[in-house]
Amino acid sequence: MMYIYADNAATTKISPAAREAMTKCMEEAYGNPSSLHSVGQKAAEVLQKAREDIAEILGADFREIYFTSGGTEADNQAIYSAAVFGAKKGRKHIISSAIEHHAVLHMLNRLEKEGFEITLLDVGEKGIVDPEDVRKAIREDTALVTIMYANNEIGTLQPIREIAEICREKKVIFHTDAVQAAGHVPINVAEEKIDMLSLSAHKFHGPRGIGVLYVRKGVPLFNLIEGGAQERGRRPGTENLPAIVGMAAALKEAVSDMEAAGEKTAALRDILIEGLSKIPHARLNGDARKRLPGNVNFCFEGIEGESLLLLLDNKGIAASSGSACTSGSLDPSHVLLALGLPHEVAHGSLRLSISEENTEEEMRYIVDAVREVVEYLRDISPVWESLEKGEKEHVI
Ligand SMILES: Cc1ncc(COP(=O)(O)O)c(C=O)c1O
Repeated sequence: MMYIYADNAATTKISPAAREAMTKCMEEAYGNPSSLHSVGQKAAEVLQKAREDIAEILGADFREIYFTSGGTEADNQAIYSAAVFGAKKGRKHIISSAIEHHAVLHMLNRLEKEGFEITLLDVGEKGIVDPEDVRKAIREDTALVTIMYANNEIGTLQPIREIAEICREKKVIFHTDAVQAAGHVPINVAEEKIDMLSLSAHKFHGPRGIGVLYVRKGVPLFNLIEGGAQERGRRPGTENLPAIVGMAAALKEAVSDMEAAGEKTAALRDILIEGLSKIPHARLNGDARKRLPGNVNFCFEGIEGESLLLLLDNKGIAASSGSACTSGSLDPSHVLLALGLPHEVAHGSLRLSISEENTEEEMRYIVDAVREVVEYLRDISPVWESLEKGEKEHVI
């Protein structure tokens, strides 16, 4: 049976280049970068090289790169830090969007309980923030604007350049959660006027548990944890050097053929979009063009996402119903609800996140498999029966 991994937004398979770089690092640079002896100094050199490589790719200075345990920690530190420094100046208002990852939204919930006021911008049915809404929402006491670069469920790309420009003009700190975007679309923090950015290696064929928080020079950074002098004292703890090196190798590889890989992946994505759109009462979620090259997200009326996933898994397809972090709970996705979808439709969602390693043949296999499974589930669904009998109205 064919086995197709189409859940790259949840995590990716580590690339051979990243794996080899990690093994080499463990064998040759096993010292602690803080140690003064030559084994330690070798590790310090390897660490510095990885920091410089990553900084260069992002358009940053190496002193602006902080290694974290991943996207969640980077998001938390960026937001908490801006809140702490904002509050010192009497600024206790934060702007974000309704479709952020829980690493952002749950931190904002905590800050709200601590007396901050949070404005979550709507994204409309296309799933995209309007920069003018950001401008209108900014107040004298706004400490931070945090808007994700690309959404993890529906893949929509946000107008980061425009939003960052407005924030710079209004002198408000701008953070972007670029966990889904880094390594997939070009990013240059200096050109795009980004003050803080989070990324995570396991979304671009690097290892898990390692990420970056970029913080522009001049923007103060508050610690989440206390300890030694690593990461200039802002993120203490002995560096996870093999993972850092693996991340640098994966990012280098991802950006080296980003354009070609993006075009190839987008062409595969469009085969899926075209094929799945032919299923009756199906709907593509999020803007058809302003989306990540590898993201497809559909709703099928009258079916339940979890059953769809299990049956697809039986056919050798690894997909997701949205975010890995919310699957397992029966709450419909906050992202799909933000697009204006009713609860019962938001339950029938399917996210396929592909990579350039997939093939056209696999895309056709997926389209056929989804069509069959959706038909089967509708045949046994009482909801579908009442829709077909006209007792209930179709929404899509
Ligand atoms: C948009 C977004 N932000 C943050 C995260 C969290 O990253 P990590 O898994 O590295 O903690 C993820 C992925 O899970 C994500 O998709």
